[in-house]
Amino acid sequence: MSKRILVTSALPYANGPIHLGHLAGAYLPADLFTRYQRLKGKDIIHICGSDENGVPITIAAEKEGVSPQEIVDRYHTRNKDVFRKFGIDFDYYGRTSSETHKKTSQDFFLNLYDQDIFTKQKQEQFFDEEANMFLPDRYVKGTCPNCGHPEAYGDQCEKCGTSLSPTDLIDPVSALTGNKPIVKETEHWFIPLGNYQEWLEEWIGSRENWKPNVVGQCKSWLDTGLGDRAVTRDLSWGVPVPLKEGEGKVLYVWFDAPIGYISATKEWAKIQGDPDRWKTYWQDEETTLIHFIGKDNIVFHCIMFPAMLKQHGDFVLPENVPANEFLNLEGRKLSTSKGWAVWLEEYLEEFQADLLRYVLGTTLPETKDSDFSWKDFQSRVNSELADILGNFVFRTTSFTQRFFEGAVPELSNPTDLDIKTLEKISDQKEKIEKAYESFKFREAIYETMELARIGNRYFTETEPWKTRKENPEACGNTLYVCLQISAALSVLFEPILPQKMHQLRQQLGVPESIAWNMVDDHILSAGQLIEEGEILFEKIEDETVEKQVEKLKQRAADKGSSEKNFTPLKDEIEFNNFASLDLRAGKIIAAKKVKKSNKLIQITVDLGFEKRTILSGIAEFFDPDEIVGQSVCVVANLAPKKMMGIESNGMILMGEDTEGTLHFVETDAEPGSPVT
Ligand code: 2FM
Ligand code: ZN
Repeated sequence: MSKRILVTSALPYANGPIHLGHLAGAYLPADLFTRYQRLKGKDIIHICGSDENGVPITIAAEKEGVSPQEIVDRYHTRNKDVFRKFGIDFDYYGRTSSETHKKTSQDFFLNLYDQDIFTKQKQEQFFDEEANMFLPDRYVKGTCPNCGHPEAYGDQCEKCGTSLSPTDLIDPVSALTGNKPIVKETEHWFIPLGNYQEWLEEWIGSRENWKPNVVGQCKSWLDTGLGDRAVTRDLSWGVPVPLKEGEGKVLYVWFDAPIGYISATKEWAKIQGDPDRWKTYWQDEETTLIHFIGKDNIVFHCIMFPAMLKQHGDFVLPENVPANEFLNLEGRKLSTSKGWAVWLEEYLEEFQADLLRYVLGTTLPETKDSDFSWKDFQSRVNSELADILGNFVFRTTSFTQRFFEGAVPELSNPTDLDIKTLEKISDQKEKIEKAYESFKFREAIYETMELARIGNRYFTETEPWKTRKENPEACGNTLYVCLQISAALSVLFEPILPQKMHQLRQQLGVPESIAWNMVDDHILSAGQLIEEGEILFEKIEDETVEKQVEKLKQRAADKGSSEKNFTPLKDEIEFNNFASLDLRAGKIIAAKKVKKSNKLIQITVDLGFEKRTILSGIAEFFDPDEIVGQSVCVVANLAPKKMMGIESNGMILMGEDTEGTLHFVETDAEPGSPVT
């Protein structure tokens, strides 16, 4: 085990408030991990900050008609504050507009420049003559060549998800002035990532314990082959390129942002009164560097930044990048522009932070996208936090107050059950540790709650309300065991429920000095007084969560009325053309993911008269297991097509809603029936 750990979480753009998706992607897992390691006594720091450069900031500023500076000042303050309220315990929350960052990222650029790493290449780029500026991809709008959406951006069509170049757009216009842009030549510095391909393949291939979703994405980038990537941009907002010939240009935001982790660590070290201390975290081999991010940031943290660090030569490389998948909300893709999100500031107006920490923690998208729903929130708060943890602690402490004058009883002549139950504290602790060490936070939370479940079952089984009169010694033992479990829980639950567990520790008299390794079956001493406590978790009423769902739907509807874009109709066709399609009812009888493909599922469809293999690009939306038994409509006379070495014989019809979510087109007709 290394001497120290450096945890970073993705620097969120300071262009809007933080929502549930952010929390579930990087910040909550990073905080759970850091709090756990800190309780274990590990030397660990957690670094984050605002990403204040790049087009995302200038676009937000344009939209509001204010300066980029005003946007970043506003959201830096708000986001820093809301993280604090959620107990996300950063050691330092920096900003990439700081002087330290400017210098650090410019020095980094110059280091690679001096090593002659970059190539300088000419490019043709759209230029807005009225605004007198080159247009970043996001600043060009036009019609999507793929789906006909008239408001596609130059980097991506948000309607169909296709990634685009500005020149792909039909009738491109400048998003700034609405004018038709001209094409003009510009020059940029590129990092030839291809030079690092071999090293990256070897390095990533040798990483142990990386999550399969992360390795999978890296492999698919590597399989495609790495090319040159521009590290500068024509933009007036950002870190200026530190070269005479680079005047008017800035560093590409994805070049400077990860360097922000280093600059923030420098600023942290300065505050510690030891300005060189950042070096021990970034340059000493005995540091374990871990980046917590969402899946959209994988390529930058696993390919581009490591290549930059490696080339620089004197930095540690990430030991792990436990990226999470995405969190959906009430079954739909989270979308801030469509109003389909829960912002943390808004959440805090109604509920306590710890409740969300727990519920989100149990639903983290660790291996695949997961869903947050208000109903599930209510159910977990009521039936887990209140009914299991809260109830256990309450019945234990109130019983002690009423019948033992608030003092921890002696353990005398314990039964096998008493002893076995006490031993569960260490058993559970070990399971929880394993889960945290392997970044399985959902499991860690489950196993922590399991100790409260064990306590509850034991309390019920030993019936202290009966033994109180019949066998006071047994009754005392029950309470002794339950109080020790409660005390252990007050420490083991700390990473997840920091505010509530602080309260519980005080009630039970568990000193703050009791750390993870000191958790055992005798944290409390016989005779020690405990205080009367308040109920830890109040139940949530149906109407409280119903109100939240209503609010969400209302907001989406308000936004949606002006933003919903249906795909334009294609040209008219003759009936004969339609009639030549042979559509049939079918049923999926087997399904499996196609190896090395993120999108394809290999499906066996029963068409009544035969069984067909069909490849369908739906793997991002469905699990193969969940679609077996699904009735479908099949284009049954489509010419066979080979994909990834497998022949596909037909096509399964899907409906795609305005959110981009796919739905099966179903029929009750028996397999083989014509669909007309
Ligand atoms: O995706 C984002 O929100 C980026 N601002 C993350 C940057 S992470 C790091 F590189 F700074
Ligand atoms: Zn499109």
